Formats: sequence, structure tokens, C-alpha cells
Amino acid sequence: MKPRMIVSEMDSYVPGKSQDEIASEFNLNKEDIIKLGSNENPFGPSPKAIEAIEKECKNINRYPESVLNELQQELANYSGVKQSQVIVGGDGADEIIDVLAKTFIDEGDEFIVPLPSYMYYEYLLQQYGARPVYAKWNLDENKLDIDSIVDAINSKTKMIFLCTPNNPSGTLIDKEDIKRIASQNPDILIIVDEAYFEYAEITNKDLINEFNNIFIIRTMSKVMGLAGMRVGYGLACEEIIEYMHRIKPVFSLTRLSYVAALNTLRDEDYIKSSIKKGIESRQYLYNELSKIDSLNVFPSKSNFMLIGIKDTGFTASELALELMKHGVIVRDCTSFKGLDEFWIRISICTLEEDEKFINIMKEVLS
Ligand SMILES: Cc1ncc(COP(=O)(O)O)c(C=O)c1O
Repeated sequence: MKPRMIVSEMDSYVPGKSQDEIASEFNLNKEDIIKLGSNENPFGPSPKAIEAIEKECKNINRYPESVLNELQQELANYSGVKQSQVIVGGDGADEIIDVLAKTFIDEGDEFIVPLPSYMYYEYLLQQYGARPVYAKWNLDENKLDIDSIVDAINSKTKMIFLCTPNNPSGTLIDKEDIKRIASQNPDILIIVDEAYFEYAEITNKDLINEFNNIFIIRTMSKVMGLAGMRVGYGLACEEIIEYMHRIKPVFSLTRLSYVAALNTLRDEDYIKSSIKKGIESRQYLYNELSKIDSLNVFPSKSNFMLIGIKDTGFTASELALELMKHGVIVRDCTSFKGLDEFWIRISICTLEEDEKFINIMKEVLS
């Protein structure tokens, strides 16, 4: 049986390696593996989320809630917007991107994505027959090349993806630049991906009241510690949210994810401490790694950082393999468009794991 043409031409998305994969491949103890490959929250979930999940287990014979008013309201309070400006997705922010594509993309449309950035936009939008047009993230200055976005716009452009802080480069896009692009292009949807905004302590969410063509992507996978529960959300004007609700899968948010999300949002202490510990870990890793001469460590406003490794004598795949043998998973960025074979990305860990990782890195490089 032949698949759709687009599927026969597509490559699979390459996610970061899991602890289970590495443990069995290298015959290691899963618990000892230090995972810095997937920008997760290393400090564990909120105890209130765990308690709520345990209580909810007895109800999993029932379908989930299809109307998510309570969670939408809690997310609206957290974000400082109206409930009618919020949509929730059950396969994380990735589902929100998928629903955006299903709602707004027609075959033959174009979307602009600066390289390097989050690879999943392209992977998803191509499935709907849209064509990527690449702009540029200037790595020398670690800054979005805004002119490259403006130059890429034409009559077919339907969406522009602006990830801030950008994954994998870690820095922010200037709010004035976002406003300029949105105001000059009222028929193009500007998707501002704020998956990591809490680590930067800066948001552009106020722009949804000013512009009908700005959509903010958010996730509970990072600061909120719920990557395994797959909860994402989006913020935009009511018209966009209403269209998306027509398309969104009805039961994609499971009962367990629902209660986990609700109870994490109500655990203010957890959220505060998660941000604080994340920023501390980032600072520690940045300071220590910057002392290693052969590494080009990028300052970051997120929970990860990009590292150029050209001067180490390793390619990213070789270095990632050496680190894996020592029980450390980093992201080999070779498959990222816009980066060559000399980049890795690491995410924050507990301070104890950070220290172990630094020692292993020094040993591997020496
Ligand atoms: C920039 C960016 N956006 C969106 C996502 C997707 O997050 P989620 O886990 O909610 O699907 C990620 C995941 O790493 C990401 O890095």
C-alpha cells in the first residue's frame, strides 16, 4: 500500500535519546544516566500533581473531559489573559502547532522559519503540503537576522515562526522586532514560541491584545515538569482560538494529564522553585563550561545552552558517543538544519548531576 506522496518523501523526526535506549545500548544502569539531551525539568514534578494523578487513576475507565474550562481558566490566570484567549493541547505544544497547521494551512502555502530553530515546525507543516522558506539566526551575534525574515516574505507566506528564547541558540527575539513584523504583515500569522519563557522571565503575551495575527505557543513540559503528561497551550485573540477549537482533537488531553496540569498550576511554590533552580543550574553550567578553552559556550536565557565544539577535535556525533559511554546524554545537533557537525546542546540538571557532567566532560576532552 502506497502512502500519500508527501509521506513517502518525508524523513522521520529524530528526537533526543532516552535513558532506556542508552542504558540498554551501553549496558549502563538507567538511574546513573545523566540526561541533558531533551530540555526537560530535572527537578521532578510537583508533589501535588503526583497526588492528583494517584487519586484520578480510579476514573480512567471514563473518557476525559472534552470541555476544559477549569484548566483554561487556570492557564488564563497564570498567563494574565482571558479564558477565551486560551487553547489547550493534549500532545503538548506539538499538538497546538498541529492544530494551527490544520486550521490555517492550505496546500502550497509557505512558512518562514529561521535556522537553526525548533525542527518540529517544519516536520509538522510539511505534512499539510506547506513549504518551508528559511531565514537566518545569526550565530556570530546570536541574534535573529530580522532582515532575512523580511526578505523571505512573499504573497504565499502564511506563517512565520519566532521561537524566543530560541531553541537551540538560547537567546531572545526583540519584542519591537516581533511587533514590526506583525504590524507590517497583518495577513500572516506570527507564531511566537514561548516554550521556555519562564527561564527568561520575559513574555510577549501582551501582544495578543494588540495584534489579531500573533499566536503565543506555551508548554507545561519545561518549568512545569510535565513533559511526560503532554500538555501544551496557546494564547491568541478570540477569533483564532475559536477557529482552532473547531479542529482540535476532542479527547486528546487524558484525565491524568488534566489533573496533573491543574494541580501544578495551583502549586505556586513549585513553579517558583523550579524557575529558580533552573536558572541556578544554567548559571553554574555556563560558568564551568566557559572555563574549558576548547568549548564555545553560548549564553542562554533558557534551560539549555548551545555549545560549539570545533576546537575539541571531535565532531558532535563523536563527542556525544564518548559522553554516552560515560552515561551522559547530550543532544548531537548534526541533524539540525542551520548547524554543521560541530554543535551540541545540553540542558540543565540538578547541581549534583551538573558537577558530575562537568567532570566527565573534562575527562573526555583531556
Ligand atoms: C521551542 C519548542 N517548542 C515546542 C516544544 C514542544 O513542547 P511539548 O513538549 O509541549 O510538545 C519544544 C520541545 O522541546 C520546544 O523546544
